[in-house]
Amino acid sequence: MSDSLLQIDNVTVSFQGFKALDSVSFSLAPGSMRTIIGPNGAGKSTLMDTIIGRVRPVSGRILYKGSDITRLPEYEVVRRGICRKFQTPGILPTLTVEENIIVAAKRHRAWFKALRTHITAAECDRVEEILDLIVLREKRRMLAAHLAHGAKQWLEIGMVVASDAELLLLDEPAAGMTHQEREKTANLIKRLIGRCAFVVIDHDMDFVEQLNAPVSVLHMGRILCEGTIDEVRSNSQVKSVYLGRSLEAEADYAQA
Ligand SMILES: Nc1ncnc2c1ncn2[C@@H]1O[C@H](COP(=O)(O)OP(=O)(O)O)[C@@H](O)[C@H]1O
Ligand SMILES: [Mg+2]
Repeated sequence: MSDSLLQIDNVTVSFQGFKALDSVSFSLAPGSMRTIIGPNGAGKSTLMDTIIGRVRPVSGRILYKGSDITRLPEYEVVRRGICRKFQTPGILPTLTVEENIIVAAKRHRAWFKALRTHITAAECDRVEEILDLIVLREKRRMLAAHLAHGAKQWLEIGMVVASDAELLLLDEPAAGMTHQEREKTANLIKRLIGRCAFVVIDHDMDFVEQLNAPVSVLHMGRILCEGTIDEVRSNSQVKSVYLGRSLEAEADYAQA
């Protein structure tokens, strides 16, 4: 019996014979973080889809708190405490920042009911704590629709934490952000480690470096190597995958 929160065991996913994931394995302790980097098409989003129950592996298993969740429907995986955040935030734009967090804290209710029911003292404390964690206290009465792109993402992360999820899957959480917003996002995630566990995927090494967590490199559906960001950066296979990509990008840019 392992004490992992999440254990991915030799997971292979095939789309009409094309292996999008090929014998992927890793595990994650409660409250910890793993980052996964890889170029576009490496299989990163497919891995998230597989964990959350949206894509079925052809072989391998996924254990969460020791029980097999490989074949559970997505709603059941979510009910058990895993949450996947997408690039487009799932916030309620016509509610204020504060109301969004209240709705998330009352996770089992429809939002219109959540806002009409009494807020307990414990829920109130949690809302205050989260407003501080996501550094949006001053914008608590602003409509979520009026937040800048970065702040919308932070609000959604805060909502997930309010809902008591124990494992948060973040798919390119800093996409489309300014340099400053990316740094804030990395700091926010780091503040939340321990409170919940994270799997963060991104194609950008510099962002992943700021998270300062163990890294797995995914390439063509396989884990190419694992280690600290420095170990990964100095790995010759990783260098050729990433350098190859950046040379391609430069060539495209020169042609455009
Ligand atoms: N539903 C699908 N059907 C067929 N091929 C898919 C499907 N989803 C993803 N793929 C393919 O699997 C590979 C990995 O995709 P994806 O997981 O989205 O990569 P990443 O998120 O790392 O950019 C890509 O070649 C993609 O075209
Ligand atoms: Mg992707």
